[in-house]
Amino acid sequence: MARPILVANWKSYPNSLFEAKSLLNQLARQSRLYKKFNFSIAPPLVYFESVARSGFALASQDMEMTDILKSFGTKFVIVGHSDRRAKGETEEIINRKVKIALRAGIIPLLCIGELFSDRDGEHFEFLRSQLRLALAGVKNSKIIVAYEPVWAIGKSAKGAISPDELSQTVIFIKKVLSDILGRKIANQISVLYGGSVEPANAEALMRDTNIRGFLVGHASLDAKKFKTIAESML
Ligand code: 13P
Repeated sequence: MARPILVANWKSYPNSLFEAKSLLNQLARQSRLYKKFNFSIAPPLVYFESVARSGFALASQDMEMTDILKSFGTKFVIVGHSDRRAKGETEEIINRKVKIALRAGIIPLLCIGELFSDRDGEHFEFLRSQLRLALAGVKNSKIIVAYEPVWAIGKSAKGAISPDELSQTVIFIKKVLSDILGRKIANQISVLYGGSVEPANAEALMRDTNIRGFLVGHASLDAKKFKTIAESML
């Protein structure tokens, strides 16, 4: 069985280089735990060198400055995160970035997710359209899809996803991937979840659904919480 995938998305934190290094030191003390994962950290660019020195794999928060990312050995790149979509990143730009990443040999972590909580299933069509547009002209299995419902993202998110809801959505995503890319390629694509993954919900979301791992935002800035999340995924 492949190792679970775990991405620490630091967004624009920690607030200082000192704090970033201290967090990295705390993570390094648990390096045996993180070796059990396909683990990477997506720091702000200013902390790239510190993360690279720590020995942990790097993920970029955006597909930019391809040569620089490659020179750091960047393994993954987050594409289409809701923070960037909110700033005007279009599906066309996302599609282009997916292709640039693939050409550069960096694995795109394609984020999709509906804006509002919806229990009538209307978000399915929205997700289908996001996938279709982002993957137009792409026939490649070296992609990871991260389902991040926007309403569930952030410390002050109003709702949390249930394992049942997540399972249904992941089945749907896999079906759409199969329609777009063909079953053989789609079967090789992992689907991750992101959106208020916390010590309290990580175990159930991992155990009771068909996801392959997490993209963790705010809880990844707290080494203790992050360790609990990681442990509950194994
Ligand atoms: P939170 O874990 O803070 O909700 O962030 C999720 C996310 O956006 C990861 O990319």
